[in-house]
Amino acid sequence: MNDKKNRVSLGHFPTPLHDLPRLSRALGGPRLLIKRDDLTGLAVGGNKVRKLEFLIADALAQQADTVITAGAVQSNHARQTAAAAARCGLRCILVLSPMAPAAVTGNLLLDRLFGAHVRWTGDRDSYELMQEVAAEERAAGRKPYLIPVGGSNAIGASGYYWAMDEAVRQSLESGLRIDHMVVASGSGGTQAGLIVGAHALHVQTRILGVSVSRTAADLYESILALAQLTASHLNLRLTIDPSSVLVEDRYLGKGYGVLGEAEREAIHLLARYEGVLLDPVYTGRAMAGLIDLIRRGEFSREETILFWHTGGTPALYAYAHELLPASS
Ligand SMILES: Cc1ncc(COP(=O)(O)O)c(C=O)c1O
Repeated sequence: MNDKKNRVSLGHFPTPLHDLPRLSRALGGPRLLIKRDDLTGLAVGGNKVRKLEFLIADALAQQADTVITAGAVQSNHARQTAAAAARCGLRCILVLSPMAPAAVTGNLLLDRLFGAHVRWTGDRDSYELMQEVAAEERAAGRKPYLIPVGGSNAIGASGYYWAMDEAVRQSLESGLRIDHMVVASGSGGTQAGLIVGAHALHVQTRILGVSVSRTAADLYESILALAQLTASHLNLRLTIDPSSVLVEDRYLGKGYGVLGEAEREAIHLLARYEGVLLDPVYTGRAMAGLIDLIRRGEFSREETILFWHTGGTPALYAYAHELLPASS
């Protein structure tokens, strides 16, 4: 099995893996490590770069000249897709929801800088609008390539199979035994890829996805199905153990993208104890979940936990007013 030839190089790998000693001490908890996929290199980094290395390779193999994808107004996936397309000389059309905000900031600003064309959904379904945009492109004589929301199909998720391979190598080189991994889960492709990697490499690490938007039951089904598809895509003969798909949906707060006290605390703790920036939508929420689980005593002090920093920091600027009290 070697999927590496179906890859274009977009990021800088391996990403660093390091300790969070001051945070770990402050929480009186287990050893905490952070895997810095916020430093994947392209366009301020983030997890989608790993997926896009395979998705863009597929687009190029199909001789596409335009990539189309969808996301929310502050989508990190959209921003990284726009940058990857620019880097590879492809046009990029982003179907963003719901409508143009008053201020062009954060990821949306970067989308524009990378030259992406933006179509707003209004109250339309983004999948439908993507199909419509693709039809328009074909009618104009172009060859569009559609990337699903979050880059989460088997091709994209295979990027996180390789990420698991990378993390396991790093842990072996440093003599670390990682008991748990914690990752923010949205469309589920990142977690699905990690699960496939864990199966293929026979590592016992438990992989917990902290949902940012969906119920555990819904996300569990998608991740299990996608992990199995990804394993087949990679020609791995393995069956995904359903009990390896662990999803936590206790930290949804007031819903997707709504910054609450828990995310605010997590962002402040990482910034002030470790000089690490989390994002308001994904890693802030996943870290808030991890902190709560540590405080509840769900991990022993002897265990080692790896937190996947999946990026997203450009969105911090779009949340400036909610991150800081008015007086500061
Ligand atoms: C910063 C960040 N972290 C995590 C995720 C979740 O990844 P996935 O959609 O593969 O579950 C996303 C998805 O957009 C993201 O932007």
